[in-house]
Amino acid sequence: MDQSENQTSNPRIRAGARTITDIIETRLDRRGFLGGLAATGGLFATGCTTTSSVVSTELEDAPSGFSFQEIMRGVDETHHVPDGYTSDLLIRWGDPLFNDSPAFDPYNQSEAAQLKQFGYNNDYLGFVSLGETAEGQPHGLLCVNHEYVSTPLMQPDVAADYPNSMTEARCLTEMAAHGGSVVEIVQTETGWAPVVGSKYNRRITAHRTPMELTGPAAGAKRLQTKEDPSGRLVAGTMNNCAGGITPWGTWLMAEENFNGNFLGELPADHPEAENHERYGVPGGWYQWGRHIDRYDVSKEPNEPNRFGWVVEVDPMDPRSTPKKRTALGRFKHEGAESVIAPDGRVVLYMGDDQRFDYVYKFVTAGRYTPDAPTANRDLLDEGTLYVARFYEDGGLEWIPLVFGEGLLTPENGFNSQADVLIETRRAADLMSATPMDRPEDVEPDPRTGKVWVMLTNNHRRTEDEVDAANPRANNRFGHVIEITEPEGDFTATQSRWEILVRCGDPDVAEIGATWNPLTSDQGWFGSPDNCALDPQGRLWIATDGNEGTGAADGVWAMDTSGDRRGTGRAFFRAPIGAEVCGPRFTDDGRTLFVAVQHPGDGDGASFEAPTTRWPDFDDALPPRPSVLALRRLDGGPVGS
Ligand code: FEO
Ligand code: CA
Ligand code: CA
Repeated sequence: MDQSENQTSNPRIRAGARTITDIIETRLDRRGFLGGLAATGGLFATGCTTTSSVVSTELEDAPSGFSFQEIMRGVDETHHVPDGYTSDLLIRWGDPLFNDSPAFDPYNQSEAAQLKQFGYNNDYLGFVSLGETAEGQPHGLLCVNHEYVSTPLMQPDVAADYPNSMTEARCLTEMAAHGGSVVEIVQTETGWAPVVGSKYNRRITAHRTPMELTGPAAGAKRLQTKEDPSGRLVAGTMNNCAGGITPWGTWLMAEENFNGNFLGELPADHPEAENHERYGVPGGWYQWGRHIDRYDVSKEPNEPNRFGWVVEVDPMDPRSTPKKRTALGRFKHEGAESVIAPDGRVVLYMGDDQRFDYVYKFVTAGRYTPDAPTANRDLLDEGTLYVARFYEDGGLEWIPLVFGEGLLTPENGFNSQADVLIETRRAADLMSATPMDRPEDVEPDPRTGKVWVMLTNNHRRTEDEVDAANPRANNRFGHVIEITEPEGDFTATQSRWEILVRCGDPDVAEIGATWNPLTSDQGWFGSPDNCALDPQGRLWIATDGNEGTGAADGVWAMDTSGDRRGTGRAFFRAPIGAEVCGPRFTDDGRTLFVAVQHPGDGDGASFEAPTTRWPDFDDALPPRPSVLALRRLDGGPVGS
């Protein structure tokens, strides 16, 4: 279907020729809308607030939290924003960060150049405001994760002799493109721009940035290697996906698909073999292990145990040593957004992005001390890691993963809390956590006590494996869960949950989507991945995999209350091949930063033949992952 022909907003509602009752009745006929709801626990479990008995034409005028004009569904070579908005091309892969950074030259890439340039595949975006410059211009630090590299898109002439084409020099360039960047940015009259040479600017990379392992697992024998007999020092971080900014202004980088960076084989009876199997190590996605022993598990079996953590970075001090906080567990971390509980403890919410893996939260033992950043410096080293068990009746239990409790005992191979943390997944398996449909970003809202969970998809779930919290077999388009922590107490161990929306095309009955019927033709989407709350507490969702619906990935605003609860509204569309990461608002809500990741990707796409050359559209340049700053032309709050 050529969806680029669709209207900007829902013509059925806009034309006024059909009432909302007509629309619902049509959809009832076409896809058994209410029947689908009843099968999964009724309206409560879907987040839909309308029924045929209460629907009236007044709902057509039901207020939305948003007032921008939707963009059209579709897919093409560039990005799109609504009328009345503009986008600043803030920074691209290869752009300079330092005064001595070499100019971007994609045909002559090197580790040395990449270490001084913005990295590849921007993912998480954090923003730490620095107030205003002496000239009165807003400025701050953008903290950017560089999740991974798309080897054939990034480097020329890779395919012909792969993997032999991946020389050590090329592998080192890839490692330098991983990790993260801190870059000072400033808003001038013409838009947001990087401050090249700022004293804050920093590159953090997979191979060259020394890091400290801290917390209960630090120093454990299973973290010791030939290069690091202490088990406390790691060179680098990699596959940093969604993350967080703590209340004390540090940046959390979540290590996600670290397994992909390892090669080699372990004998089946090796003590780490079962552990590595549970994490998919070695993934063999990169050739680093051909050249450097630590990325070959047969030569350094403990090295993978030193990845899969949450890394804390002080963006204000480019000389500071990042800390891998082992108390937060080891898995394919996605997101680490935090909130201060009423008693002052800090709670972090995290997903483990794998089919049938889990949702976690961590509650610090200590309390947050405002206005004393150093007092909070090591707050993340002590506390309790919980995993979520979702019940059919809408109850949710947070199960503590503590050595000696339940099945986490020597009889089951756990001899310390370090073991529990290094093998967090197996610990959660034993404690009967609920296997989810790929948990990605998880965002708490301190205003409401709500927690939004993005479940991106899971085409491997069978009918026999369906449960209330993961209600669809072959779930190709994901869903969004709303957790309610009782009375805003984020430390609670008994909570409630319901599904806000099951994603996908509401007009295709077999998909079983459950959007609010007021959702327009542009407003639905598939594969929710990253999310953000704006300063008004409104939810925004970015997708990774919406192309499965025939349209590009993008950002949608989402009503979560009132008669439009469960209604999406299309705000931003990425160029072909890209997913959208970030998103991140400035504190005043007047800028929305979005990270456009892997533009130009696609089946068979390469450096020589990408699906787009966004954002430069220069035949001499490959596509470049980039960060955009989206603003209203009149300077008002985004989305209002
Ligand atoms: Fe890196 Fe789960 O997305
Ligand atoms: Ca993600
Ligand atoms: Ca993703």
